Amino acid sequence: MENVKVENLLINYKTLEKFKRFREYGNQELTMMEDLENNIIENDSKSPFYGIYFGNNLIARMSLYEVSKQYDYYFEPSQDYLTLWKLEVLPDYQNKGYGEVLVNFAKSFELPIKTNPRINSHGFWGKMGFIKAHYEMERDLGENPLIWLPEGVKEKDMKS
Ligand code: COA
Repeated sequence: MENVKVENLLINYKTLEKFKRFREYGNQELTMMEDLENNIIENDSKSPFYGIYFGNNLIARMSLYEVSKQYDYYFEPSQDYLTLWKLEVLPDYQNKGYGEVLVNFAKSFELPIKTNPRINSHGFWGKMGFIKAHYEMERDLGENPLIWLPEGVKEKDMKS
């Protein structure tokens, strides 16, 4: 896995076409496509997506957003954290370590991370050191958010 490169994905027709192979293709991608078509965003704009290419194929991707500490309900002390979502490895490439490479890349920012896991992926997140968050933001209700704490960071104590 040493030679595997994680790249920030630029928004262009080529990337958006490759996104169609992922199960979690949805509104976010469709909006990017419309914005590109309507020249609301420029070709090759920066996107929140990071991915891994195998030859010409995009085989794994995730989206990472930084949330400002004023909206942090999870961590102690309050701080900027990352929301990780749409982590997905294409079926033929699963269980080869690519998911872990993307998660390690997210951890390398040394910020806490929050994710809303897909059903059936809890074993994977447990291995990655994620724990169940006690707090659920209103829009996360029923999502069972998981968090990862870098050294020196604790979960906020909801009782106080
Ligand atoms: N349950 C339990 N453990 C899992 C797992 C799962 N669903 N998926 C991976 N793991 C384990 C691997 O065995 C590996 O353990 P090891 O270090 O002891 O060998 C470790 O987690 C890292 O796995 P990795 O090869 O990096 O996983 P991946 O590249 O396949 O990425 C997902 C993991 C979940 C992101 C990827 O499989 C995916 O996108 N799946 C899509 C559908 C889905 O959510 N499936 C869940 C199972 S139905």
